Amino acid sequence: MKTLTTIDSLRAEIASWRKAGERIGFVPTMGNLHQGHLRLVEVAKHQADRVIVSIFVNPMQFGANEDLDSYPRTLEDDCRALQQLHTDAVFTPTPELIYPRGLSEQTFVEVPKLGDHHCGASRPGHFRGVSTVVCKLFNLVQPDIACFGQKDYQQLAIIRQMVEDLSFPIEIIGVPTERAADGLALSSRNGYLTAEQRAQAPRLQQVLQQVATQIKTSDADFRSIETAAKTQLEAVGFIPDYLTISDRSSLLPAEHRQQPLVILAAAWLGKTKLLDNLEV
Ligand code: PAF
Repeated sequence: MKTLTTIDSLRAEIASWRKAGERIGFVPTMGNLHQGHLRLVEVAKHQADRVIVSIFVNPMQFGANEDLDSYPRTLEDDCRALQQLHTDAVFTPTPELIYPRGLSEQTFVEVPKLGDHHCGASRPGHFRGVSTVVCKLFNLVQPDIACFGQKDYQQLAIIRQMVEDLSFPIEIIGVPTERAADGLALSSRNGYLTAEQRAQAPRLQQVLQQVATQIKTSDADFRSIETAAKTQLEAVGFIPDYLTISDRSSLLPAEHRQQPLVILAAAWLGKTKLLDNLEV
């Protein structure tokens, strides 16, 4: 596996693959790879001849009081795991390489509307940071396909729209969420949970399952189902950020009998924000 740290070396490697007529798969990550990321690499490997992974903790998508400095950085372990999967290359740029002018003078990409609610409401500027870095990485790597986890449902929808709006010739593949045996969606931030919080964390997915059952079996108004679900989360120690029965394409709160639906949720357990979703 090649480790590429400069734009020139990245472009040279990509050019040699292109010259050989190979199909290129790309998995952008912020590192601290877990089974969910490795699954993205496996899916990319099935769909492409060459797979490149980027590891870049993107400062533009973190708010001023967020965990940019403490975000887990485990490059050696990550590279070892990628090597075991026979990944072709890993791109590990520095912030200076990606944002040579600094964040405040960087041209940005912002997808309208989809990012206004849910995580976008509680993390202003977050999705602008995500779409800007993904756009930039797409321009550098120019892959044929790119894989993203469905756990970050809103992020995936935003990237799909960006690709459509900016006419990137890239197929976006959404990969189902990898879960621990007890149902908790895998996330790099799960490592922040205390043992007690970790034991409570699967309740988030359990509540989403209950909401899905209620949607299918009752005539109750969606807003009252959401309120009851948030109360249930609070009762077991979560502080819900949002829990919304949404329309799957606009991600806006859905009305009764509207289809198809997705339940989107984020909730704090202590200092850790957990995200999960369930398509209904
Ligand atoms: O999902 C992530 O890890 C990040 O948001 C991404 C897509 C790599 C952009 O920094």
